[in-house]
Amino acid sequence: MNLPLSKEELKNAVDQFGTPLYVYDESSLNERCNRLRQLFSGLPVSWLYAMKANDNPHLLEIISRNGFGLDTVSYEEVLLGLGFTDDPTDIFYTENNMTDDEMNRAIESGVVLNIGSYSRLEAFCRHPDAESCCIRVNPAIGDGHHAKVVTGNAESKFGIRKDLIGKCFELAESHGVRIEGLHVHIGSGIKDPSNMYEAIKMMLELANGYEALEYINFGGGLPVSYTPGEKEFDLAEFEKITRPALESFLEKRGGNFRFYFEPGRWIIAPAGVLLTRVNTVKDQGSKSFLGTDTGFHHLLRPALYDAYHHITNISKSEDQGSRKYDIAGNICESGDLIGVDRNMPESEIGDLLAILDSGAYGMTMASHYNRRTLPAEILKEESGEFRKIRERISPEEQVRKHLKECNYPDFITSIIEP
Ligand SMILES: Cc1ncc(COP(=O)(O)O)c(C=O)c1O
Repeated sequence: MNLPLSKEELKNAVDQFGTPLYVYDESSLNERCNRLRQLFSGLPVSWLYAMKANDNPHLLEIISRNGFGLDTVSYEEVLLGLGFTDDPTDIFYTENNMTDDEMNRAIESGVVLNIGSYSRLEAFCRHPDAESCCIRVNPAIGDGHHAKVVTGNAESKFGIRKDLIGKCFELAESHGVRIEGLHVHIGSGIKDPSNMYEAIKMMLELANGYEALEYINFGGGLPVSYTPGEKEFDLAEFEKITRPALESFLEKRGGNFRFYFEPGRWIIAPAGVLLTRVNTVKDQGSKSFLGTDTGFHHLLRPALYDAYHHITNISKSEDQGSRKYDIAGNICESGDLIGVDRNMPESEIGDLLAILDSGAYGMTMASHYNRRTLPAEILKEESGEFRKIRERISPEEQVRKHLKECNYPDFITSIIEP
């Protein structure tokens, strides 16, 4: 929960690129990738980046350069991911209600299919080019920062029930298909790491029964601390607890077995910040509002998950008095509040607010709701230079794009240039 850049740097960024603006810091990103890659030294552990967290191609390039493969969850993500590796087997496609067409294309692309239902496995096995795949297990152990992102519980739509795994192997064998890996992902933003450790142990035990397996993918979910004072997820402890279990599995197993992890949030959330400008200050009697030029169309997490993002007024020093504000977005819904009851310095129109830890599940969940435009995105490179990594599209261009996609005549030109 730190500003990845100084207030001065962020203000400079706004001077150059305006608001609303996502700013990412390349050195934080490199540093976080490095910290993960240094874990489990000496063990056959590979890292994938769950690109649903943030799929800006410039950021994917940096993360790939750090030796990460990619976890993808749609055929569209597969297509995008293929641009960042020479070896398609560095890409996992963790399917979720995939269509036959998506499956056929994914098989053709050569990525690793991670299949999450018995019926999809049946369809995969019937495909003439199907050779091998991974299967996603539902471990009946779930966790996550919000009920909507818990994926490993027995009631969840994800994964194949444990008691059906044997049947999956029989099915695959009967078609000459190899199940080469097992996958589990219990949820995102894990609150109680013991659930993750339990799922890892469970998967190791499960894998013991299947000699042909080559790897286990333990998924993502590594949490970040969004609230001031919240304890950071302890990577050293994570390694200390899991390493012995992995080592003893490998000792018994021998051969070329491999483990994968596929975090998204942990890598990119703290490396990104959303900058917005206050354009309205309103006293409603019982509440004071700071109205901004962003909202849940740019950062959905507060509205969707009641998620906390720390908000700092970077135009004021911390000691300029303290008032309680709700920080409101510009979407026409009363639920469009980015922060509620926040103690902030006395703020005024024109102030810049930094919404911290917004690098993950910010821009990838952004939309054009209320027909609004998206924020621009910039990267502070290792050299200290800012580089634009997403253009700001004007309202006119945005509406024009909408008309075009709807196959409707463009009347914008005649309106703005009558
Ligand atoms: C299959 C899968 N893997 C990895 C992740 C990444 O999770 P996180 O960003 O919490 O690490 C997700 C996100 O929920 C996911 O669905």
